[in-house]
Amino acid sequence: MRTHQCGELRPEHIGQQVTLTGWVATRREHGEKLAFIDVRDYTGVTQCVVDNTVDVRSEYVVRVTGTVAARPAENVNDRLVTGGIELQDCDVQILNSAEAPPFPVNERADQVAENTRLQYRFIDIRRERMQRNLRLRAAINSAIRTSMEAQGFVEVETPMLVPSTPEGAREFIVPSRQQPGSFYALPQSPQLFKQLLMVAGIDRYYQMARCLRDEDLRADRQYEFMQLDAEMSFVNQADVHQAIGAAVVAAAKAAGQDPGDIVKMTWHEAMNRFGSDKPDLRFGMELNDLTEVFTATEFKAFAGAACIKGINATGKAEENGRNKLDGMTDKAKKMGAKGLVWLKVAVDGTLESPVAKFLSEAEQTALKTVLAAQPGDLLLIVADKWDTTCEVLGTLRCDLGRPPVFEGPYRYLWVVDFPMFVGVDEASGRPIPAHHPFTQPHPDDLHMLEADPMNVRSQAYDLVLNGWELGSGSIRIHQHELQARIFSILGISDEEAQKKFGFFLNPFRYGAPPHGGFAFGVDRLVAILAGEENIREVIAFPKTQSGMDPMTNAPTPVAQKQLDDLGIRVLPPKA
Ligand code: AMO
Ligand code: AMP
Repeated sequence: MRTHQCGELRPEHIGQQVTLTGWVATRREHGEKLAFIDVRDYTGVTQCVVDNTVDVRSEYVVRVTGTVAARPAENVNDRLVTGGIELQDCDVQILNSAEAPPFPVNERADQVAENTRLQYRFIDIRRERMQRNLRLRAAINSAIRTSMEAQGFVEVETPMLVPSTPEGAREFIVPSRQQPGSFYALPQSPQLFKQLLMVAGIDRYYQMARCLRDEDLRADRQYEFMQLDAEMSFVNQADVHQAIGAAVVAAAKAAGQDPGDIVKMTWHEAMNRFGSDKPDLRFGMELNDLTEVFTATEFKAFAGAACIKGINATGKAEENGRNKLDGMTDKAKKMGAKGLVWLKVAVDGTLESPVAKFLSEAEQTALKTVLAAQPGDLLLIVADKWDTTCEVLGTLRCDLGRPPVFEGPYRYLWVVDFPMFVGVDEASGRPIPAHHPFTQPHPDDLHMLEADPMNVRSQAYDLVLNGWELGSGSIRIHQHELQARIFSILGISDEEAQKKFGFFLNPFRYGAPPHGGFAFGVDRLVAILAGEENIREVIAFPKTQSGMDPMTNAPTPVAQKQLDDLGIRVLPPKA
């Protein structure tokens, strides 16, 4: 129906007769006889000079045949790639009329309520921003697939109706009609299946896998999301990092970016220096150890503390008044700290703080040296257990200095040597696994599994970009005996393990190769590469914060007959 796209015509086409198809973006009357209409498709707009009797309005669908002509000098628009030309002597065919759209199809729609944008998503996606994002997403998906296939990975699809398994997040469940009272779960990830594919000799598996988790939604979380999911046999960590790193590099290049080197850091270093297991390396304000400075202190909040650390929020003394400092103190307390000490460095270098009088001259001098304090700086100190101190300061560091996630420079890193266990369950007194219970412990720490589990490292790793967790993975346990040891530490009996994971564990008796893998969130990577702060902007039909789709109204009630067939009775909502 067309000879060219709306963003394609240039001065070199002048004199040619062309036909364009698209939507009427704008209409302006021009003198008594003529009107300008801008015709839009996903490539851009072209200005068409038409007879003003032509009855088209915004978003009408048209087919315009006309002659490419140079615009009169005063009408040239340098901001448009087609701004040097226009179509003249136009014949306009109306292919469809349109009701007035609920919001303008341009960047002003960014200010429109989220719900309205999602209710009319088919119009929202006509906009340049959404077209760019969805097309970038497709290019990145394609680059990832090409990279994985070039590395010998085989795409295998795994089921969407799976048994319910404990994997961290809450599952969506699907009632079975054939077996009323029984349920499938939708997969939180293909984890168990991809490991079975290793037992099955697939060797290198990948999948652009749709995963479903019933979690509270946030900027980086949707119910449905896409993972690049991969698993490899006969590998060590470095092999996995290399393979996934290559796919990430390919994705970044598809977005026109050079990802630079992916650095590596242990979990312990990340926590110690940045107070986070997903450190944002784009800015400083690192955590500094002050335990030595205060070894002999008389200030009771610091005396005898296991760990004292501080950060220097450079130049931020003035902008943080009493209210903001009180807010930070409250936040620190909510996170489990006993308090927060703040000190402002005055013009003459003295420290201004309600607690300054409790700190000796020598302590103040040493503190300023360690934190490289200069006039105008704000110093924040926490004294507590090591993990609380790190986490609290890491959070305040981000609050005070973190740029939007998509802002360059891009800093990718592998965080390695995660601990095997994250804490102890109060009720049972058993350690809680940090990753899933199939993660292989660090070989150097195997001997301490029973005696000192909290200090055992695992072979689990995360990929982090600009403070967002892009993905995670691990080398898995493939030996039956080791798996039994882990279950026994977790307090899971043989019987319970059989019941919960039998379908997964028993195949491992039939010759499971050493294997490991990884999965990263494609939505998150695309969002950052697209310059977006919310993954909704790179998903065609996402859900709102409250889990609704305003376009289809999902979730909706279903007919009583359907419920009867499934043997389901719905209780009235809890008051
Ligand atoms: P994990 O649970 O860490 O690991 O998930 C891997 C990555 O998936 C992305 N992701 C999400 N993205 C959008 N919305 C969500 N609700 C959401 N939840 C997770 C994140 C995350 O880093 N099977 C293991 C991987 C493995 O061990 O191989 C797994 O799923 O980017
Ligand atoms: P207190 O002695 O409890 O009145 O606390 C005096 C000041 O030290 C207050 O500003 C507290 O917020 C702060 N503070 C108390 N305990 C700690 C701690 N463990 N780490 C950092 N600051 C603390």
